[in-house]
Amino acid sequence: MGLLCGLATARGEDSPAKFLGANSCASSSCHGGGGAQQDQFLTWSLKDFHSQRPPATLTTARSKQLSEALGVKDPTTDERCTVCHAPLQEVPEESQGGQFKASEGVSCESCHGPAENWLRAHTRHDYTRADRTAAGMRDLQNLYVRANTCVACHQTVAQPLLEAGHPELRFELDGQSVAEPKHWSAEKNGNGAQAWLVGQAVALREMSWQLNREAGRVQDLPVAVTDTNLVQRWGALAWVLHETGTVNFTVPLALNDYGSIQHKADQLAREKSEAVWTEQMTEACLTRLAGQAASFSDPKIPQPVQARRAERLVLALDRLLAAENNHQAEAELNQLFKLAQSVPDFDPGQFAAGLEKFAAAVKN
Ligand code: HEC
Ligand code: HEC
Ligand code: HEC
Repeated sequence: MGLLCGLATARGEDSPAKFLGANSCASSSCHGGGGAQQDQFLTWSLKDFHSQRPPATLTTARSKQLSEALGVKDPTTDERCTVCHAPLQEVPEESQGGQFKASEGVSCESCHGPAENWLRAHTRHDYTRADRTAAGMRDLQNLYVRANTCVACHQTVAQPLLEAGHPELRFELDGQSVAEPKHWSAEKNGNGAQAWLVGQAVALREMSWQLNREAGRVQDLPVAVTDTNLVQRWGALAWVLHETGTVNFTVPLALNDYGSIQHKADQLAREKSEAVWTEQMTEACLTRLAGQAASFSDPKIPQPVQARRAERLVLALDRLLAAENNHQAEAELNQLFKLAQSVPDFDPGQFAAGLEKFAAAVKN
């Protein structure tokens, strides 16, 4: 569902507005200048990996290998790859205008929306945020809208691609936003913990959607056909969100209950993107998650489940500490990263002990 809505707009299916190309944004008096408020085009074209790397990746030896395994003749033009790596290639001819160039990679309009209906007007001083949104410019300041935009390319990879060797994707809005060379001012980034929570809820919604679809597809086959790896990653993320105390999933999760979790996760993301976020909220999530040592000492929970939970948990602790600008538990966190690194070698007892040390360091 999220995947479809994100990509449908990128392909222009639910919007007749035309894509005009990055050069339409790049005049020196607009976003192509060298000044701090005008250098978006330069930042994107020179520093942001979205402009060059995604399409270039489709020409590497690794892509060739992947394609051979999948029976894809040419990854640089096949929709199964271009939909994320070269999305403008999927824009139909009738939606191309201005200085449109299919070769641009993940471009301004892939994130901000096709510009035809807002390009001229959006610079007017009397033009409000609501006016822009109504004209089809995505309101990326809204964390829910932003997460939906990024997740369309950063979470769901079809099972055959994974089997052929495509890397597993793991969407995490806060960390990935920090990693993207920014062409926007820092205050527009919102609170890191809030971005983390909205992003993880959206990631869970997408995983639930994927599992739901796969469960439908393999209805007549034994359950084992469903990707157990994905089921475990999904269960781990639902567990982490549940333990933040911001949402109530019935744990242990009823398997096959993907539909209701998808719905709850979406509600959570919407609600938290609208919330006025406070430091107390970050603190509450961090304290609850740091206090999970006992559940890693529970021998009834299978080791692979524990390992996947630990993997998600350390990422959460990392973002929450960063949001608090807290450096006093860094050594303990690094130790947890090490302990959670390998799923087969994961030792729940050691992890529980490490987590107790971490919780103590955070409290000090
Ligand atoms: C149209 C698809 C698309 C959209 C939308 C998109 N990305 Fe990406 N992004 C990619 C692809 C494809 C790559 C991989 C580039 C490569 O290595 O070939 C990538 C790479 C990245 C990377 C570096 C690799 C990594 O995963 O650490 C970051 C960080 C990133 N994107 C963040 C974001 C953020 C934040 C957003 C939303 C504001 C976003 N992306 C929106 C397709 C997209
Ligand atoms: C759902 C969006 C999506 C689709 C569809 C997709 N990719 Fe990717 N791909 C990504 C993202 C995002 C990354 C970056 C992963 C990272 O760095 O964590 C990536 C990474 C890769 C990499 C590894 C790049 C590297 O060396 O680090 C290769 C190779 C690749 N993709 C090839 C393909 C091919 C070939 C296809 C089509 C058969 C394809 N991809 C389809 C999103 C996608
Ligand atoms: C990977 C997704 C992505 C791509 C590609 C992208 N942007 Fe953005 N852009 C964002 C996000 C996220 C924000 C921050 C939220 C906001 O201000 O709306 C943003 C903010 C902006 C802002 C507001 C800056 C500020 O501080 O007020 C401008 C202007 C902008 N982008 C222009 C561009 C232009 C021009 C391009 C192409 C050259 C481009 N963007 C490409 C995601 C993207």
